[in-house]
Amino acid sequence: MTQSLTLPRPDDWHLHLRDGAMLAGIAPESARHFARAIIMPNLVPPVVTGAQAAAYRDRILAVTGTGFTPLMTLYLTEATDPADVVAAHKAGIITAVKLYPAGATTNSASGVRDFDRVRAVLEAMAEAGIPLCTHGEVTDHAVDIFDREAVFIDRVLDPIRRKTPGLRVVMEHITTSEAVAYVQSQPADLGATITTHHLVINRNHILVGGIKPHYYCLPVAKREAHRLALVQAATSGDARFFLGTDSAPHADDAKESACGCAGCFTATNTMSILAQIFEEAGALDKLEGFASRNGPGFYRLPVNSATITLEKTPEPVTYPAKIETGAGQVTVFDPGFPLYWQVRQEATS
Ligand code: DOR
Ligand code: ZN
Repeated sequence: MTQSLTLPRPDDWHLHLRDGAMLAGIAPESARHFARAIIMPNLVPPVVTGAQAAAYRDRILAVTGTGFTPLMTLYLTEATDPADVVAAHKAGIITAVKLYPAGATTNSASGVRDFDRVRAVLEAMAEAGIPLCTHGEVTDHAVDIFDREAVFIDRVLDPIRRKTPGLRVVMEHITTSEAVAYVQSQPADLGATITTHHLVINRNHILVGGIKPHYYCLPVAKREAHRLALVQAATSGDARFFLGTDSAPHADDAKESACGCAGCFTATNTMSILAQIFEEAGALDKLEGFASRNGPGFYRLPVNSATITLEKTPEPVTYPAKIETGAGQVTVFDPGFPLYWQVRQEATS
């Protein structure tokens, strides 16, 4: 049985670092294990210009130091200027652009209502080779929350991709077998991130035996059959699927509330959880692709030369249940089972 596993240092292709005291408190949790991360722009106010992205990048680096590389994104609005996007990309400030349908999730009010209004930006991105990251859920109140991802594929994503040939798209945090099948049916200009928590929980974990706010996120976890489809995709070795934790901290009082925020905070224990899931699937050898190689492949970036080593432990791994930050206490995602894989050694970069 494999007792230790050395991988190129992993990257997180979808991460929320927030700002201010929350950023200071939680960014080290990601920087400890990950070399790079695609940083979500849904701050208040959102990161909509290249200048704002550069300033936010500098605030992140002030906390993490240069051993961690934040790959910045711009928040797409109906007022986004195609020239600003292309210039920010050319200047090396941004790596991608994030599409939030307006109202789909946390701080998405400035997102897109009419997708035709962002056509010029998407065309400029296709031309310049800038990937589009999508929050794949429709916001139509008539569509059940558990169906919103599957409907997004038909109503929004597929039409955008057909109208914008050459646009490289990442379907973020996929949660359904429909999304897995859609990605598998398409050429390699479509990729998908899968979160740690969606590989672990289904909707019963949120709702059975009392409501569990720390398992509530968006897109909401679906039925067990969908979770199994995600595990299958993540562990299949298919290079179109890669890790994006969507680690999304909220202070406990905002989660444990009559109207609790969406987000699971997995930065602290993601690598231990993934090793366990991949081992249980008999696919430990596929973890390297999922966490360290497929993402750089899609984003056309080099694989990290530094490494981390995961080690099997006889006793369950210990990790903090909560992270204290100057903006409140944040609960670390509890997978609900003991973990036996530990990150042994820091990357030497
Ligand atoms: O659960 C989520 N939390 N999903 C998102 O799309 C946004 C994120 C957040 O920013 O809290
Ligand atoms: Zn997210």
